[in-house]
Amino acid sequence: MINWFVGSVVRFEGQNFLRLSGDVDLSRISSQGRTRGDSVSLYIHIPFCRTLCPFCCFNRYLFKEDQARSYFIDLRRELDMYIRLGFRFNDFYFGGGTPTVLMDELGSFITYLRSSFDVKRISLETTPRELTPDTISQLRDLGINRLSVGVQSFDNTLLKAMGRTLFKGEDSIEKLRLAQGKFDTVNADLMFNFPTQTLEQLRSDIRIFRDLGADQATFYPLMPSPHKMDALERKFRKVDTSREQQFYDIILSEVMDKGYKPSTAWCFSRGDRMIDEYIIDYDDYIGIGAGSVGFLGGEFLVNSFSLEGYHNLIAQDKLPIVRMRHLSNLEHYRYYMLTQFFGMGLRTDAFKKRFGSSIYARLPAELLFFKALGLVREKDGLISVTRSGMYPVGTMMKEFFTSLNTLREYCIEAGI
Ligand SMILES: C[S@@+](CC[C@H](N)C(=O)[O-])C[C@H]1O[C@@H](n2cnc3c(N)ncnc32)[C@H](O)[C@@H]1O
Ligand code: SF4
Repeated sequence: MINWFVGSVVRFEGQNFLRLSGDVDLSRISSQGRTRGDSVSLYIHIPFCRTLCPFCCFNRYLFKEDQARSYFIDLRRELDMYIRLGFRFNDFYFGGGTPTVLMDELGSFITYLRSSFDVKRISLETTPRELTPDTISQLRDLGINRLSVGVQSFDNTLLKAMGRTLFKGEDSIEKLRLAQGKFDTVNADLMFNFPTQTLEQLRSDIRIFRDLGADQATFYPLMPSPHKMDALERKFRKVDTSREQQFYDIILSEVMDKGYKPSTAWCFSRGDRMIDEYIIDYDDYIGIGAGSVGFLGGEFLVNSFSLEGYHNLIAQDKLPIVRMRHLSNLEHYRYYMLTQFFGMGLRTDAFKKRFGSSIYARLPAELLFFKALGLVREKDGLISVTRSGMYPVGTMMKEFFTSLNTLREYCIEAGI
């Protein structure tokens, strides 16, 4: 009931939040360039994959070498526009798609980052298929701190149902073994509540992950956009969310209770590790690349999803932002609360510093709701999420990401 309620509220709010305008006022971004110091992180999207997974809602295209090489040139030009506006970054997140599809281009891009900024941390996503002893040593030499590997499952039957037939669970195990210990953090992405997935399959995935002694795992509940949902339902008849909490309870008892600490409601780490969500580590982030989104001082920004549209704007020396939305104060407070709770805790002094007013004055009803239901507890200025709050907070984030996936699907299909 609580999950249904919080999920419905965020679904409704998320749809409003993502009601974007095509009137793009770039002065709202440029005015922040010189004042933000390095308080903004940079997300870099590489939208190419060697095969396309049917369930995936990210902006991704089948890899073509020429297209990908010219894309890296555009990416650098887009970054230069932000540098000219005065932005400085030292925390970087490469996502995809598959950022490692062209290792030489990736290498030159990272070298360029190092020549332009004081680089502190780099996180990068890839697939097990891309990981060879050679790419691992190149990524290590490039100074990647956190390597995130999209395993999804170690179970071959489930991988087949997911449409990931080109590599096997055994291969992912071998790739994770190769990578482990070579980076500050190695993360494995695993999915749960995929149609046909059994609770035993998730338990077995977790056992394998734990036996590997890997640093970190991020568990994604299935979050399909409307058309991906239709396709999954045609294939599997039903996408059943009623078992989602059972899967999540297994994650809590088999991962969190076995020595892994929650870095977010979905990400569990041994010791202090970098986490997967740049939206939690940093209050503001800029996204570059086709289909990236950014959030800057209450402005939500969306880049062109179409490769052609993206290229054409860059060729005219324009930032490729095609949609934006200025959040109301209330939306901004709630978005902040959502991301901080997803990251397991909100510091009341940080809220006050960001908004110039206390959370008790700005979100009294929301706080009362969360506290009264025991979803959060407060001590020494930290409002932390309790064990029973973790699933509802994850549900809220899932609804937000599902709205974002719906927006992505709309933009991709409309060629925006
Ligand atoms: C953008 S992918 C990049 C990783 C890499 N390309 C791979 O697939 O191995 C990041 C993660 O998002 C998750 N993901 C993708 N589509 C999803 C969906 N529809 N619902 C839930 N999680 C999803 C997967 O766990 C994936 O590893
Ligand atoms: S899940 Fe990863 S490999 Fe599959 S299509 Fe999405 S980004 Fe590409």
